[in-house]
Amino acid sequence: MTETVWWKRGTVYQVYPRSFQDTDGDGVGDLPGITARLDYLAWLGVDAVWISPVYPSPMADFGYDVADYCGIDPLFGTLADFDTLVAEAHRRKLKVILDFVPNHSSIAHPWFTQSRSSRQSPKRDWYIWRDPAPDGGPPNNWLSNFGGPAWTLDPATGQYYYHAFLPEQPDLNWREPAVRAAMHDALRFWLERGVDGFRVDVIWHLMKDAGFRDNPENPGYRPGAPEINRFHQVYSADQPEVFAVIAGMRAVLAPYGERVLIGEIYLPIERLMAYYGPDLTGADLPFNFQLIQTPWKAGAVRDLVESYEAALPPGGWPNWVLGNHDQPRIAARVGEAQARVAAMLLLTLRGTPTLYYGDEIGLAHVPVPPERVRDPWERNEPGHGRDPERTPMQWDDAPNAGFSEAEPWLPLAADWPARNVEALRDAPGSILTLHRRLLRLRREHPALSVGDYRTVAAAGDEVFAYERFAGPETMRVLLNFGADARTEPLSEGAWTILLSTRAGRGGEATRDSVALGPDEGVILLRG
Ligand code: NOJ
Repeated sequence: MTETVWWKRGTVYQVYPRSFQDTDGDGVGDLPGITARLDYLAWLGVDAVWISPVYPSPMADFGYDVADYCGIDPLFGTLADFDTLVAEAHRRKLKVILDFVPNHSSIAHPWFTQSRSSRQSPKRDWYIWRDPAPDGGPPNNWLSNFGGPAWTLDPATGQYYYHAFLPEQPDLNWREPAVRAAMHDALRFWLERGVDGFRVDVIWHLMKDAGFRDNPENPGYRPGAPEINRFHQVYSADQPEVFAVIAGMRAVLAPYGERVLIGEIYLPIERLMAYYGPDLTGADLPFNFQLIQTPWKAGAVRDLVESYEAALPPGGWPNWVLGNHDQPRIAARVGEAQARVAAMLLLTLRGTPTLYYGDEIGLAHVPVPPERVRDPWERNEPGHGRDPERTPMQWDDAPNAGFSEAEPWLPLAADWPARNVEALRDAPGSILTLHRRLLRLRREHPALSVGDYRTVAAAGDEVFAYERFAGPETMRVLLNFGADARTEPLSEGAWTILLSTRAGRGGEATRDSVALGPDEGVILLRG
């Protein structure tokens, strides 16, 4: 098992830094806060921590608008704080993955200031400038992912610039070799500081159609859905030239040894697979968000797992995600009982799991009153905002859940006095204990971390059953997606329950069949 590279064996834990731990009393989390909580992450049993952006930023999109790719925003601390975090993480055998946002910078980045200063600026081509359409309007029909046109007119030079997200996030022009070189330098800056890899923001967006053709209309668009869905994003993203760009990034990482490149990609499975790249020169892990997008039914999830496994290119390592800072929380979507089943699924499927902070304590949808809305998307397109999944981590029953001495930047869940790490960590039946046990099992059993996968036929259509196996070891996972108790047959021989989503069944021996309670998942070991 030690032969397998860490990012295949291990579990990634995503920290949204604004919401993890505040140490300077401004109601916003910071780097020393993450460092202070590394013991918790080591105790929980994850292997790597991915930190959403902490670069200097005007925070129009909370750090996904970068004004300096080689610095730390004072809100989060200093470069020295960052170095301390990396050193302390490594001391605990935790890897550190940085969020890298190469598709767009902040409008405040000096590169953009120079680029917009004149059509003759040496940095003009670092961004995407186009003349107005003959009627003076935007150059084409591309829309912003946050609603409205993706083009903003800059009166100073009479041209439009392109932004796939906010006008404050102009897209960089990756066809410009100097942009690639500058970005590669930024990657090296962090690699030299010891980071173990990158999660690359919207990696499938990096190249756009050279001819800027209009996107085709989506006849299936229904009003109320995000406006971006009015068109199929045929020309504004997912272009064949992107694979050379990604291979270029991989080549920057290569001399540094076991570093990981994770790509954020929202595409259907067939397209997603292309991001492993020709001969696996692409992302090590093209993020697999399919579990977020699939109906929460045993059959649908089984079909998804099978089609994803079948579509993987030879040698391509799978990965699974249940949530992140852009998606409704899993417990909000399926309820706490099924969130436990989901945790068992995430941590027993074949492939690297990414766990979103707070999911381990069952954080659900936190209502955010209109006056406390922070997400710019919610302001543009009400109902689509992401604040409810970005609320502070709940540590204990101290004021503000131990997150901050000040009023947190987003509200806490109403049940924080009971739903916090301190209250749940020693409770045998808690969702936190379940996560810790699952993570420990994954570490102890190569069958779970690096073993093979096969689906097992289940008797009931509300049960998803599969096996993970390596060498002499076979584990069977049975997940009851339904609210009725049922009995599932087992193949011949003796089986032992290693873990259930309900407390108290560990060690139970059985033959022939196993009883599953409502919403119960179990992991059995053969023999
Ligand atoms: C994806 C990030 O996860 C999201 O939070 C952000 O708003 C967009 N990319 C733009 O960077």
